[in-house]
Amino acid sequence: MKRTHHCNELRPAHIGQTVTLSGWVHSRRDLGGLIFIDVRDREGRTQTVFDPSDLAKELFEQAAALRSECVVSLTGKVRQRPAGTNNTKIPTGEIEVGITALEVLNMAEVLPFPVDDPEIASKVNEELRLQYRYLDLRRPEMVRNLRVRSKVAIATRQFMDEQGFLEVETPTLFKSTPEGAREFLVPNRRDPGTFYALPQSPQQFKQILMVAGVEKYFQLARCYRDEDLRADRQPEFTQVDIEMSFIDREDIYSLIEGLLKRVWKTALNVEVATPFKRISFEEALNRYGIDKPDTRFCMELVDFSEEFKTSTFKVFSGAIANGGVVKAINARGLAGATQGQLETMTEYAKGFGAKGLAFIKVESGEWKSPIVKFFSEAEKAALVAKLEIQEGDLILFAADQWLTACEILGKIRLYCAEVLKGQGKLTIDPAQFNFLWVIEFPLLGFDREQNRWYSSHHPFTAPVSEDIPLLKADPKKVRGQHYDIVVNGVELGGGSIRIHQPDVQRTIFEELLQIPQEMVKARFGYMLEAFKFGAPPHGGIALGFDRLLAILCGTSSIRDVIAFPKTAKGTDLMTDSPSTVEPKQLRDLHIELRAAKKE
Ligand code: AMO
Ligand code: AMP
Repeated sequence: MKRTHHCNELRPAHIGQTVTLSGWVHSRRDLGGLIFIDVRDREGRTQTVFDPSDLAKELFEQAAALRSECVVSLTGKVRQRPAGTNNTKIPTGEIEVGITALEVLNMAEVLPFPVDDPEIASKVNEELRLQYRYLDLRRPEMVRNLRVRSKVAIATRQFMDEQGFLEVETPTLFKSTPEGAREFLVPNRRDPGTFYALPQSPQQFKQILMVAGVEKYFQLARCYRDEDLRADRQPEFTQVDIEMSFIDREDIYSLIEGLLKRVWKTALNVEVATPFKRISFEEALNRYGIDKPDTRFCMELVDFSEEFKTSTFKVFSGAIANGGVVKAINARGLAGATQGQLETMTEYAKGFGAKGLAFIKVESGEWKSPIVKFFSEAEKAALVAKLEIQEGDLILFAADQWLTACEILGKIRLYCAEVLKGQGKLTIDPAQFNFLWVIEFPLLGFDREQNRWYSSHHPFTAPVSEDIPLLKADPKKVRGQHYDIVVNGVELGGGSIRIHQPDVQRTIFEELLQIPQEMVKARFGYMLEAFKFGAPPHGGIALGFDRLLAILCGTSSIRDVIAFPKTAKGTDLMTDSPSTVEPKQLRDLHIELRAAKKE
């Protein structure tokens, strides 16, 4: 019995035809002596009917023994469903197949969770789903995610090919260069005490490919980072990694705008408007309190440093006297915030080192707040005017150093938006995609604990040309030629124009990042060497492919768009990995365990 149609194909036009369907028993109902089985394959499902008068007795008995997820081939005649029994939810809902022959290809045990009911399936504990991922992946929603991922990968390759890029594979057994996130190490059996590292990204290889004259490189590259995991982070993930020679930032912007246009068209049939808006790092922080703003709603940060400079409320005037700022947001409609919600927000502020979080609830025509008594009439008037205060508003303040005050309110802004969404007071169109280039990042940040500069992006990022003289004089003012692409508050990707002059690269490594000369030589010597032999000016970007898919599939977790993801603890529950190994394997690798620790 060979399949003639997929389970999404049959329509009234097929009525009268004899067909064979193969797939899984999706659901089964017994009604009035008949057995109804919905058979499902990757493409969809079809209702089949077993009537004892059409089937040999033993076949009917076999049908009676079928349960969910048994694998079957069924042959029968397509017919109209009886009046009033059409199912408008599925494309095959007008017909059914009256079965005349049946082959049971495999039985299935009772499932640990049902895959036929989207309502129940969406509530199944994720650990169970990951342990039985092959069942989870049978759910139509997951099949759809895999399909979108495949289509987007192919569209990406096609687009990059049309633009003249070469896809080049770079090694995943790489060298340890501990700069960014923690690395996964691979011990080398042949030389005790030496290790490969899995690459955090193909950054160095792609730059070397530019020195090699490849000019336009891309790769759907697997990257590995041993960092704390969250819904948008996995220890291994995929990047659309890109590098080009003889270009400037504008070339990257238009390339990525073209690519995302193609991807959105392919996956969602949506026309994305280009060019994308651009916002500087400073403006993003000032207005949204974050370098990846979600601009689908307002609730912007407003500065009151001028107004509160001489305030009698010392928390505010003191912060300003200390070189800080006072900023506020108006969470419209949130005056009814509960004590618990206010505490959560205060904890966020404290997490950034603030002592507290000042607020005003505008309720019953009154300003309810422990601090309003300190405000002058002029201060109150300024608040009303600049925050457009109305009944029902919740005003929240941060008084601190500029970056801290921005970040506190940035986090609270997102929290308030979630609460307002939950209350139906803020609606965001799921089909809205606000793309944004965030540009003009500072090249360096300062780590107070370690008392040294670090690269905001990575140490290969070029400074903005006119800021190069400031490198030694005033490093914090130097802007990098770094850009991030953000959509709906998600950092989709980032990249930069690179340093291609070995002397500038050496200054960054040794003088600014204070990496000892010997270490620079051991880690990056080969790159500096390569740059001496004719390195073209170059730059690139990497998009987080999993994050891209999560946005396209409308899910908040990248685990939903990865076939076999790891849990937040970095484990694969299906294969039970990581796992212990045989003592001989350890001996071969010259590894001795200090203490066999197993939780
Ligand atoms: P960056 O470190 O910003 O840049 O990474 C680029 C993009 O990769 C995605 N990403 C992740 N996705 C899932 N899980 C993770 N753990 C994870 N970490 C990062 C994000 C991010 O924006 N080599 C540079 C790029 C360049 O300069 O060209 C790089 O890797 O979407
Ligand atoms: P205090 O004088 O420390 O009791 O603080 C008075 C009010 O200001 C309280 O409601 C605090 O939560 C709030 N507050 C304290 N520090 C800050 C700050 N850095 N930014 C905003 N509000 C603050």
